[in-house]
Amino acid sequence: MYIGNQFCVFLSIFLYISGCLGENYDIDDSLGLGQTFDGIGGLSGGGATSRLLVNYEEPYQSQILDYLFKPKFGASLQILKVEIGGDAQTTDGTEPSHMHYEDDENYFRGYEWWLMVEAKKRNPNITLIGLPWAFPGWVGNGKNWPYDFPDITASYVVAWIHGAKKYHDLDIDYIGIWNEKSFNVKYIKLLRYLLDKRGLEKVKIIASDDLWEPITSAVFADKELYDAIEVLGVHYPGTKTVPRALKTGKKLWSSEDYSTFNDNVGGGCWARILNQNYVNGKMTATISWNLVASYYENLPFGRDGIMTANEPWSGNYVVESPVWTTAHTTQFTEPGWTYLQTVGHFTHGGSYVALTDQRGNLSIITETMTHDHSVCIRPPLRPYNVTVQNVTFNLKGTFAFISQLDVWHSKFDFKTDKTVLFQKLDPVKVIGGSFSIELDVDEIYTFTTITNGQRGTYPDPPPSAPFPKSYRDDFNVSGNFSEAPNFADQTGVFEYFTNLTDPGPHVFTLRQVVTQRPITWAADADQTISVIGDYAWHDVMVSCDVYMEAVQTGGVFIAARVDRGGGVIRSTRGVFFWVYADGTYKITNDLRGLAVLAKGSAGTRARTWYTLTLRVQGNYASADLNGYSLWKNAVLLNPLHGWVAIGTSSFQLAQFDNFVIEAE
Ligand SMILES: *[C@@H]1O[C@H](CO)[C@@H](O)[C@H](O)[C@H]1NC(C)=O
Ligand SMILES: *[C@@H]1O[C@H](CO)[C@@H](O)[C@H](O)[C@H]1NC(C)=O
Ligand SMILES: *[C@@H]1O[C@H](CO)[C@@H](O)[C@H](O)[C@H]1NC(C)=O
Ligand SMILES: *[C@@H]1O[C@H](CO)[C@@H](O)[C@H](O)[C@H]1NC(C)=O
Ligand SMILES: *[C@@H]1O[C@H](CO)[C@@H](O)[C@H](O)[C@H]1NC(C)=O
Ligand SMILES: *[C@@H]1O[C@H](CO)[C@@H](O)[C@H](O)[C@H]1NC(C)=O
Ligand SMILES: *[C@@H]1O[C@H](CO)[C@@H](O)[C@H](O)[C@H]1NC(C)=O
Repeated sequence: MYIGNQFCVFLSIFLYISGCLGENYDIDDSLGLGQTFDGIGGLSGGGATSRLLVNYEEPYQSQILDYLFKPKFGASLQILKVEIGGDAQTTDGTEPSHMHYEDDENYFRGYEWWLMVEAKKRNPNITLIGLPWAFPGWVGNGKNWPYDFPDITASYVVAWIHGAKKYHDLDIDYIGIWNEKSFNVKYIKLLRYLLDKRGLEKVKIIASDDLWEPITSAVFADKELYDAIEVLGVHYPGTKTVPRALKTGKKLWSSEDYSTFNDNVGGGCWARILNQNYVNGKMTATISWNLVASYYENLPFGRDGIMTANEPWSGNYVVESPVWTTAHTTQFTEPGWTYLQTVGHFTHGGSYVALTDQRGNLSIITETMTHDHSVCIRPPLRPYNVTVQNVTFNLKGTFAFISQLDVWHSKFDFKTDKTVLFQKLDPVKVIGGSFSIELDVDEIYTFTTITNGQRGTYPDPPPSAPFPKSYRDDFNVSGNFSEAPNFADQTGVFEYFTNLTDPGPHVFTLRQVVTQRPITWAADADQTISVIGDYAWHDVMVSCDVYMEAVQTGGVFIAARVDRGGGVIRSTRGVFFWVYADGTYKITNDLRGLAVLAKGSAGTRARTWYTLTLRVQGNYASADLNGYSLWKNAVLLNPLHGWVAIGTSSFQLAQFDNFVIEAE
């Protein structure tokens, strides 16, 4: 609420009443400027976090993309960071590599290419970043380590950057090393050398997407390394930097942050760190993990995205509060603007930043988020107090003659649900270079000379609905994506496959293509597995045609009540029905295949199609092979519910067709 400015001045001069004007804060560029602002972004991947977005139908898919990327509409993101798929589990699934094998290259797999193209369509200025989490096994020559052959790893990464340009006309601006893992000095130098040699001088290196140390010490110790790196990127810095990092003179970025459930506390977390990453840590870019929660909610870190779009089958999506928190900064700045030195904390809690385009424009963003309404997932947040307060901003230097500012306001209300997000208020008059305002708790304001901010809106999407109980896929589509709708690979990669020499009914199939354990980021299973459906399903029939290509070691499964995904995929339980190329079958209670419920002879072999059917009802389960019962009414105690899945017994080629689910 605005305060009668003149009246207050009168009172304070003549009656000396403190607390009327409140505290004064100068906004001044005459003393010099702060750091260059590099933008606010979202991270797709790390891993498979945009998996379900690509399966949305129009107009919903375009609407979601507009809320994320369209300038002056919603989040209006300034940076898009994507995972360079490495065929391995990287938190909520696996993302396919552009080179599954040493002699393989394909720049149309997965959805990150598509996403970058869609983001660029909306905002040609968006900054693009690529970062590997994992690598195909051949990059390490079978060892779980990417630095033994640094020239191979660097060529692999450079190939991805070239592919982006050649096939999608995308210029990658920044490239990272190895997400949250060790860096290697020789590798970083080699990567820089190779980028320069292959005409990619403009692609800058971020290191090391982990903690402030040891990368900070490493750049001090080595001039060539210092020159090779453009940005020190850290993860979850808790708004703090270390003095040594500041002394490097490098750009400091929070290159992964947020990771918080996207309710209003999540929106508050995001508001607090967007301001305070600069105020406390002089970080000039902040990137949200993740961009959009487009993965099954029961996978790890469900709904930790700027918005939620995890129901392609219904079309439902939710524009969550972090979208509008982001808009408070992104709609009124551009990368290349400069922070003022006059940024800081308010006396009674909260913070403010001010940025300018150095051509007279000014945007001030304030946040007064209370502790409990802005806790992020990590690191721990020390207690602090915020109370309602009057503040006066005194505009000086270039800004002394500004006469009014546009005002955008959000207030999180946790008591009565009267939350307002990104509302345009009447402009504030700046009188004699000053304006005053009463800041309540849990508010965000933007005061700005930029007059074309906009709260974008579309009609409500269709209502939320559960995954269809009756579902089938014959994989006969040759679409723009390599993966079949709604399948969420958790180890291995399952791709559409066309066998033009097959005269029969299995020309179009889904094929597991990873044949060697990748250089992992998480603890991938030793089996491959892709999950689909509703985590709440208990009674379900699943049927699928299967084809083992591995003659000696072939083994495939279908499963129900699969209770875990993501980084804990190794310990997943469920009911797994396996057949093997050696002529046996097995029913197990776990993916590892150790808890055997039944086993026997099935007469199965490689390079023959079989139809597997698994029925789970109450405490009973049964399995059929080609319509004949192998196993019946066995007692099954848990898990009680979970997804449906398909997979293989090791990293091997196998195909799937005519997939059917009937759930109750
Ligand atoms: C892209 O950046 C240029 C230079 O800052 C600016 O003039 C232009 O408006 C920007 N375009 C969009 C779509 O934001
Ligand atoms: C502010 O930015 C706008 C473009 O958004 C530009 O037209 C204007 O000249 C800039 N300067 C001032 C003082 O508003
Ligand atoms: C916050 O305020 C309460 C009540 O006034 C006080 O007891 C507490 O010490 C304060 N906490 C901090 C961190 O200042
Ligand atoms: C802020 O100033 C207004 C107007 O003088 C006054 O009514 C209000 O009580 C003040 N608020 C605080 C928290 O001091
Ligand atoms: C594939 O993408 C193109 C161009 O983006 C589009 O016109 C076409 O409809 C898409 N095809 C499918 C099957 O989605
Ligand atoms: C393709 O189909 C032919 C004919 O059925 C078969 O011999 C061949 O093994 C199939 N290839 C693959 C990779 O499945
Ligand atoms: C799907 O493709 C198979 C060949 O793989 C063909 O036999 C079948 O008829 C197709 N199904 C439909 C619905 O077109």
